[in-house]
Amino acid sequence: MAEELKNYIDGQWVDARDGERFDVFNPATGEVIATAPDSKLADVEAAIDGARRTFDEGSWWPGTPARTRGRILLDAAEIVRREHERLARMESIDSGKPIGDAREDIAEVAYMFEYFGGWATKIDGDVQHPSAEAMFMVWREPVGVAAGITPWNYPMMMPVQKLAPAIAAGCTFILKPPEQTPLTALELPKILEEAGLPTGVFHVITGFGETAGAPLVASPKVDKVGFTGSREVGKIIVREGAETLKRVTLELGGKSPNIVFADADPKTAFEGSANGVFWNQGQICSAGTRVFVDRSLYDDAVNAFVDRASEIVLGEGLDESTEMGPLVSREQQERVEHYIEVGSKEATLAKQGTRPNDARLSDGYFVPPTVFADVDNTHTIAREEIFGPVMSVIPFTTVEEVVAMSNDNAYGLAAAVWTNDIKKAMTTARALRVGIVWINDTQPAPTEMPWGGFKESGFGRELGKHGVDDYLESKSVYVNLA
Ligand code: NAI
Ligand code: MG
Repeated sequence: MAEELKNYIDGQWVDARDGERFDVFNPATGEVIATAPDSKLADVEAAIDGARRTFDEGSWWPGTPARTRGRILLDAAEIVRREHERLARMESIDSGKPIGDAREDIAEVAYMFEYFGGWATKIDGDVQHPSAEAMFMVWREPVGVAAGITPWNYPMMMPVQKLAPAIAAGCTFILKPPEQTPLTALELPKILEEAGLPTGVFHVITGFGETAGAPLVASPKVDKVGFTGSREVGKIIVREGAETLKRVTLELGGKSPNIVFADADPKTAFEGSANGVFWNQGQICSAGTRVFVDRSLYDDAVNAFVDRASEIVLGEGLDESTEMGPLVSREQQERVEHYIEVGSKEATLAKQGTRPNDARLSDGYFVPPTVFADVDNTHTIAREEIFGPVMSVIPFTTVEEVVAMSNDNAYGLAAAVWTNDIKKAMTTARALRVGIVWINDTQPAPTEMPWGGFKESGFGRELGKHGVDDYLESKSVYVNLA
């Protein structure tokens, strides 16, 4: 029987006021595993009012001692660790991702709570004496009521990398998780309640973007929105948030270059390049989907990618032998299949892997790993974010040429550079207009390292100390000493 999920508002588990619900699917089978409240304006406003009241009245939440806020987050980390396997299985069923990957995600969720719990007691300001007659201080204060609007590719990590720094900073927080994968997001209130978070600090409302997300962006009572998702919706959020001059941070994905120079170790570089596209079913904002390979290695590279695409075992996430699960939804499956059709006309389809051979999974949203060769950087499949396991392999000859092609895209999130020449690595990293560069690696995103993009990949940073900064305002206090 499908579980009936509820919203979490002011410490109460409640249905949408109009009682409407939507279905949540297991993407491996297409079965309905849960239903969730289809929240509308009135539901969102109830959450906003709760968060606003908790922030404003007597400053009692932001006024809570830093060490108390920190302690709550540290305890939340331990609760996530205790519940690790249960949460990982839930994440795998809801999103389709292989259980091993889900275990890594949940372990990182625990660490995020711990890391930002440590920050709560280390937020400090500045003092200066511009002259003998004056001094000023810079105080760091919570930005206020913050909202998180999150996507489905990392259903539990994406909320926590917003929520944990927000709590460390003393904000209150409203989460609107994605309609595709709300399960683990709705575990967060239970975890934080047990960790001692006071009622009213954190609220979760489920629903669709236009009906449950948009009111958070429009509300004058919400001070900040942290968004991860599509570039299109990112632009809507900036436009709709302009009316109230909302603070906004945006992480909008990319079309990241992955550059293999001739002097790289080919085995490591090819294996890494394939992982950078195929991990998480290709549903990674920073996926290195434009694989630029030096002409002298090009044929070897294409062969290596074809071999890898042939080997990858597709299946249900909970099956320990699965290397690649289904995409998250029918909509994403159709979107990615459309790009594969477009790519087949533009370039050479070098290889497509195979769907799982299991009748029970015949309705699952599987798209096998796909390799396109002879791709030109101007092709649609090399310009647009596909968000599936689709690789475009593009040859190059000179450093200048590959840097120019890499930068010739509206996105600028991340890049990987494979070379044993330190000078080439650093000059290339310097020339790339992206927010994250990996050298001889791809995709690691340690919680300590700031994460975010240049250009149309968004603005603001999550994670690291920058991730805390974006939940703080600076107040300058000047004192006349004359
Ligand atoms: P989306 O951007 O529509 O959804 C992300 C979140 O925004 C969800 O919680 C959604 O309900 C909410 N949302 C949608 N419209 C909204 C609105 N008008 N106001 C406020 N909130 C709104 O992404 P979607 O449709 O799930 O995926 C489409 C494409 O977006 C993918 O194919 C991929 O290219 C990209 N994407 C990028 C991600 C990233 O990590 N940067 C994550 C997910 C998707
Ligand atoms: Mg959408």
